[in-house]
Amino acid sequence: MALEIIRTVNGIRKRVQKLKQAGKTIALVPTMGGLHAGHLSLISKAKDVADYVVVSIFINPKQFNNPEDLDTYPSNEEADLHNIEKLSADLAFIPSVKEMYPDEFATHVKVTAGIDILCDAHRPEHFAGVATVVTKLFLQVGADFACFGEKDFQQLFIIKRLVKDLNIPITIIPAPTIRENDGLAMSSRNERLGKSERLIAPQLHQIMQETRKQINAGMAIQMACKSAKEELESAKNFKVEYFEVRCGENMTLLETPQSDCRLFAAAWLGSVRLIDNISL
Ligand code: PAJ
Repeated sequence: MALEIIRTVNGIRKRVQKLKQAGKTIALVPTMGGLHAGHLSLISKAKDVADYVVVSIFINPKQFNNPEDLDTYPSNEEADLHNIEKLSADLAFIPSVKEMYPDEFATHVKVTAGIDILCDAHRPEHFAGVATVVTKLFLQVGADFACFGEKDFQQLFIIKRLVKDLNIPITIIPAPTIRENDGLAMSSRNERLGKSERLIAPQLHQIMQETRKQINAGMAIQMACKSAKEELESAKNFKVEYFEVRCGENMTLLETPQSDCRLFAAAWLGSVRLIDNISL
């Protein structure tokens, strides 16, 4: 069946209501477009769990703390729709900024767990922007399931908390990080890497894997992270924001290995910010 496109909140509500009356289950895949294989893996996962798949595309201005990042964020609706259609998702929900945030809009959703650390320490208000738009999407679409990537692990953590705290009747489905052949985690922003930066970029993941090996072989976490940071900054031209091990369950910083340990990293390469995380 041809892909349906809806651009209004009223429109998506009515459509989903009808589907629910017909006994269908619905999965939502929230995105900001610039779709790559990582996004597409979420769509496949959504198809596995529900009868009907809605992909939202909305570049959410409230989660950008740098106007230049917003202005240069990749946007190609035609290509995105083509990709969504190829995977036989059912509906693309593409609201405008006015539809999402009318002039009088005055509400913000802020989760106070999982913040002040990792990305939130460097991008203040980013997660409030994410929590606000994700809450709106959940309420607008009324899906039974929503799929999110572990690539943005802190975002996933915050969204799980949000759903629990606000009793939103939706099941969050996490999906593993999809990578390029050389290990670089796929991201819409990778398009902005220059040729030489693109060659260096996978070294972030490679050094993370080396660090995992060192920690698993008994090296102290702090020492392994410190030397990885130094290697990235001195030899490879990265500017590291964070490189640390936390508990994937509650996000506390860890100095000794335990179950559910994750290594988190963010680093700038030129004007592109790369983030990644792996389990230890
Ligand atoms: P966006 O960056 O477009 O990502 C949409 C979804 O795709 C998120 O759940 C993200 O974790 C997932 N994703 C991105 N790269 C991935 C990869 N390499 N492998 C697996 N999944 C990947 O995240 C956002 O948009 C926004 O913050 C959003 C949740 C849509 C709210 O505006």
